[in-house]
Order: sequence, then C-alpha cells, then structure tokens
Amino acid sequence: MILPGLIDSHVHLREPGATHKEDWDSGTAAALAGGFTALLAMPNTQPAVTDAETLAVALTAARKKARCDYAQYLGAGADNIATLPGLASAAAGLKMYLDQTYGPLRLDDMTVWMEHFARWPRHLPIVAHAEGRTLAAVILLAALYDRSLHIAHVSRREEILLIRRAKERGLKVTCEVAPHHLFLTSEDIPILGAGRSEVRPRLATPGDCAALWENLEVIDCFASDHAPHTLQEKDSSNPPPGFPGLETALPLLLTAVKESRLTLEDLILRMYTNPQRIFALPSQPDTWIEVDEEATWEICAAEMYTRSAWTPFEGWKVRGRVRRVVLRGQEAYRDGQVLAPPGYGKNLRMI
Ligand code: NCD
Ligand code: ZN
Ligand code: ZN
Repeated sequence: MILPGLIDSHVHLREPGATHKEDWDSGTAAALAGGFTALLAMPNTQPAVTDAETLAVALTAARKKARCDYAQYLGAGADNIATLPGLASAAAGLKMYLDQTYGPLRLDDMTVWMEHFARWPRHLPIVAHAEGRTLAAVILLAALYDRSLHIAHVSRREEILLIRRAKERGLKVTCEVAPHHLFLTSEDIPILGAGRSEVRPRLATPGDCAALWENLEVIDCFASDHAPHTLQEKDSSNPPPGFPGLETALPLLLTAVKESRLTLEDLILRMYTNPQRIFALPSQPDTWIEVDEEATWEICAAEMYTRSAWTPFEGWKVRGRVRRVVLRGQEAYRDGQVLAPPGYGKNLRMI
C-alpha cells in the first residue's frame, strides 16, 4: 500500500540542551521509521527557541543532522512580542504555552497573549497548548483578533465539543489529537505506573476518549506530540511529562483502520492533507511511503530509533508496518534501516 509521506505537526527533538533524550539525528530517524517525511519541531528546548539567536542554533543543528524535512516553531514569551514577527516567515509557526507543561515557556498574563495575537502575521500559524477553560479563553482571542488558531493535543470531551461549536460558528479554529489520547486513558495509569504515565494533557477518562472518537470529524490532524524522556527520568521521583510517539502513531492508527474505527481516507486527511494545508507546507516531490498493511507485529522499544528507549505501547500487537520511505526521490528508509544520512533533511520554510 502506497501512502503520501506523512507530516507530524508536533514533535519535541530536545536539541539544543537535552540530546541525551533525543537530537535532530535520532528524532528524524525515528520520524522516517514511523512513516513521517516532515515534522514541525517544538521550541521548548534548552535554551528555548524564542529569538534570532536561538532559532539559528536550532536550525544549524537541523541543517547538519536532520534526515527528514522539517520546520522549527518559535516560542511566545513575555519579552519577544516585538521581535518575533520579523522571524515569522522562517518558522513553522508561533507556539504559545498557556498551561503548565514541560519547560519554562508558560504565559500567564492574558495581555501578553493579546499582544502576540495582534502582532504575529495573520497568515502564519499560531499553535496553542491550552486545556479546559484556557482553551475557551484562547478561542475567544482567535475570535476577537479574527485569525486562525491551531489547538495542540486535544484530550477531553469539553474541549472537542467547544472546538466543534467554534467551528460551527465559523471561527478559524483547527485542532490535533495525539494517538496516546485515542488509545490510552486514566485506566491505564496503574498499568503504566505513575511516572511513565505522566503526560500533558494528562491521560483522560474513558468518557473523554470516547468523545474524541465520536467527534472524529472535528479532529483536523493526528500529531504524535513525540515528547521523549529517558526511562531513568520517567521512573525518577520527579518524572517529566511526555511520551515518545513517532514510531507508534501510524501502526496504532492503521490497526484502528483494520478494526473499522476510522477509514484510510480519514487517516490520510489527518496525517498529510490537513497538516500540509493548515501549516502551508510545500509539497515534497517524489515522496511516498510503502506500508505492508497485513504485517502483524509487536511494538518493541528496543527496535526503535528514538533515544528515549521506551514506549507506553510496549508489547501492543499492531497491524500495518512501514516497509519503505522515499523522500524527494531518494530511498530514506527500508525494512528497519534508515538510509537518509544526517543533513539530507530540508527546512520546509526555506524552499
Ligand atoms: C511535552 C514535552 O515533554 O516537551 N510534554 C508532554 O507531556 N506533552 C510538552 C508539551 O507538549 O506540552
Ligand atoms: Zn503541550
Ligand atoms: Zn508537545
């Protein structure tokens, strides 16, 4: 089965600052192994990507090490409101962290949100981490400033219903859901253990999870929210939130296709067509992935490229496996081997 090269609009690569968790090399290798030929990298690195200097640091690492195509987000802060618009066209979009999560980029002051909404170019993406009532607040801002807004990792019934209503009212709101919120719930916390189940947004109730499936038509994208941390960190007394997800997203969703929980067209729309449109990404010529839809296999972190070396889906039996990835005319992955060298990936905002 041939599919388009998939696009993941929400990936944490940890470089600069925490390359023991992941770097541009290991993270983009994991992307290719998972069937993704393009990814958008989040700015909550160390230092965070919030100005020209830190953007240059991230993009220099990317230029040398990325094996798949990419773009890099800028992080909204209280002190970069005036300088960000000048960098906007070089970035994947503006990321606003409006609730507490991993890293220091949280924005509390709503007047700061307003200034970013007023200044960030209106044709370029804004992505918000906004849960529950914070989501209601940021949707109001999208309405007041009459601009588009993409909501990261929707996990709860109240959130998907709010987004449904916003869309019905004609607001330019789009959203993504991460596979872990479709396939895991709060009932899996005792099985995974306290540290390993830490993720933001938290694993939600079975009712929340059911509401996501029931409102599939409201979900524009599936994005992995690949958030690698090592097992030592996850099992520590202060476990950071986040799951790796690049190498499990497609097999989990293909298994759901086999089980008739969604169609293949639903999947392609949310992992290729919609992310390409919402983030205005150029098409990648001569790019496709080949999937053995009948292959049944067991998810195993030891076989993965992510440096985090674990997965919350260890041992899950899935159906559908990436066999081959062709990126811009070159074989980039085949039968477990990543073939695209570091530096092969291109910045999608520069071509
Ligand atoms: C993310 C991370 O580790 O960077 N963690 C997470 O639990 N999702 C941050 C985020 O996406 O909010
Ligand atoms: Zn987030
Ligand atoms: Zn994230």
